Amino acid sequence: MRKKIDTRYLINWIGGKRLLRYRISELIPDDIKTYIEPFGGGGWVLFYKDNWAELEIYNDLNDKLVNLFKCVKFHPDELIKEFRWMIASRKIFKETLESTVYTDIQKAAKFLYLISRSFGGAGRHFGTGKRPGGAAKSQQNIMARILSIHERLDKVIIENLGFEELIAKYDYEDAFFYCDPPYTSGVGYEVISTKDFDHEGLRDCLKNIKGRFLLSYDDSPKIRELYKNFEMIEVTRQKGINNKCPNGREYKELLIANYKIT
Ligand SMILES: C[S@@+](CC[C@H](N)C(=O)[O-])C[C@H]1O[C@@H](n2cnc3c(N)ncnc32)[C@H](O)[C@@H]1O
Repeated sequence: MRKKIDTRYLINWIGGKRLLRYRISELIPDDIKTYIEPFGGGGWVLFYKDNWAELEIYNDLNDKLVNLFKCVKFHPDELIKEFRWMIASRKIFKETLESTVYTDIQKAAKFLYLISRSFGGAGRHFGTGKRPGGAAKSQQNIMARILSIHERLDKVIIENLGFEELIAKYDYEDAFFYCDPPYTSGVGYEVISTKDFDHEGLRDCLKNIKGRFLLSYDDSPKIRELYKNFEMIEVTRQKGINNKCPNGREYKELLIANYKIT
């Protein structure tokens, strides 16, 4: 009998909140009317629950990610058709990496394939190791997740904006922003390197909003200083593949909010 699979996600994404999603979800207030993720990435927190609010917004600056989730939302069957035979093989991975694709559905399938079958979800190197998992993960399960996330995205609005514009557009008293920006160290993203991200700009944007926010960050002196006037708790999780972790297997992060969190 097939093992029941977790269909509350589609891709592993660098900085994705797979290990922290439970802890974060406990801190999200239940009296919100709009739930917004300005830095949506793989959407681990958004997809963790069937619904967070009457209106939900997924946003990311990365247009490949946004195109993938738009195709999952609007063209799941066509995406599955395109993806079905993109099987796990070192040769096909290399060919796909070098291929030119034209339509949005082809672009989504290529992106999903490279992220799903690569080392650490970075999309660059075929991800097989000595242990099970990695690029050898089930093709059937990925297709089942496309269908499940298609349903989850039914009422979710998908945006492709910078965080300043997104936050300004959706902020009001009943809005809630779960913000998971690039951290101050570690690997960067295609859209921005870690050192170029405007951490001060995000703080300035968040400090004036009418709604509530919850923010996840690396535990660094810079972030502690920037958010010293806000609620802050430390959380520790196991080291993920792309996080630098100088002191053994644990990685420290901060959860910061403009409302009471314990
Ligand atoms: C830490 S990841 C988010 C991970 C996500 N919470 C998850 O669980 O998968 C940060 C995301 O911010 C996006 N990003 C970087 N700069 C941005 C900006 N100025 N505005 C909006 N998104 C941005 C990146 O493309 C990346 O997907």
